[in-house]
Amino acid sequence: MIVLTGASGGIGKVILPYLLDIDEVIGIFNKTQIQHLGRNNLVCEQLDLENSIEIRAFVNKFKNKFKSSRVIVIHFAAVKIDGLVANYSETDWDKMMSVNLKGNFLLTQALLPIMVNKKWGRIIHISSRGGECGDIGTIAYSTTKTGLIGMSRVLAKEYARFNITSNVLALGHFESGLYSKLSDTLKETLINQIPSKTLGQTADVVRAIKFLIESQCVNGATINIDGGI
Ligand SMILES: NC(=O)c1ccc[n+]([C@@H]2O[C@H](COP(=O)([O-])OP(=O)(O)OC[C@H]3O[C@@H](n4cnc5c(N)ncnc54)[C@H](OP(=O)(O)O)[C@@H]3O)[C@@H](O)[C@H]2O)c1
Repeated sequence: MIVLTGASGGIGKVILPYLLDIDEVIGIFNKTQIQHLGRNNLVCEQLDLENSIEIRAFVNKFKNKFKSSRVIVIHFAAVKIDGLVANYSETDWDKMMSVNLKGNFLLTQALLPIMVNKKWGRIIHISSRGGECGDIGTIAYSTTKTGLIGMSRVLAKEYARFNITSNVLALGHFESGLYSKLSDTLKETLINQIPSKTLGQTADVVRAIKFLIESQCVNGATINIDGGI
């Protein structure tokens, strides 16, 4: 059973059909309804990752489904509010931390007892190469995306004894989603960071997810999918 957050997002909705070829998927959205795709192994579920009560209720609602399957959580949900440090507002900072870090943590924490019980689990976090590089104007985004790498390593060490792995996919620039919302000037700057000057293919993301699901010893790793940035 794959729990995919950000399933309604630019990258999430492109990879969703491929994940459905691997396993049953609970596709999580917040404000944008997911198309059902006519697949009987897809459950679409609204969940606000800023709300800890909703997160607990979500895990409780599906607990029987989770108990009868191996659980994989893939954290694609994120927000990106950019701005220079000098003017960055506390409200925007709190929102970014709340969705990108705390939401990820709380959902993982709520699913861990089920994984521990099964003695198997896969946690996949999504970071960003731009975030890791610390691009100008991305103070909160970069903080959250590098924070996930620390979070993942701690999870890897605390839960390895239960056959639970936690890894990060650090994405470069992809055609869909957050990238497509940027200005033409910023898009040009970002594409020039890629040696091949070619945007990432979501097929590579799916291949990496399959690899992490199947691997036991790959744990606490960060895999760059960025064309060599
Ligand atoms: N696109 C790129 O080039 C790129 C590059 C590097 C890294 N990434 C990473 O890849 C991931 C997906 O990016 P994307 O481009 O697909 O982003 P996107 O199109 O902006 O989608 C963001 C997703 O997060 C969900 N979300 C936001 N707030 C939420 C909340 N409070 N509760 C639950 N869900 C919430 C959105 O749900 P609703 O729409 O339903 O509200 C949406 O499904 C992100 O983690 C991003 O950092 C993307």
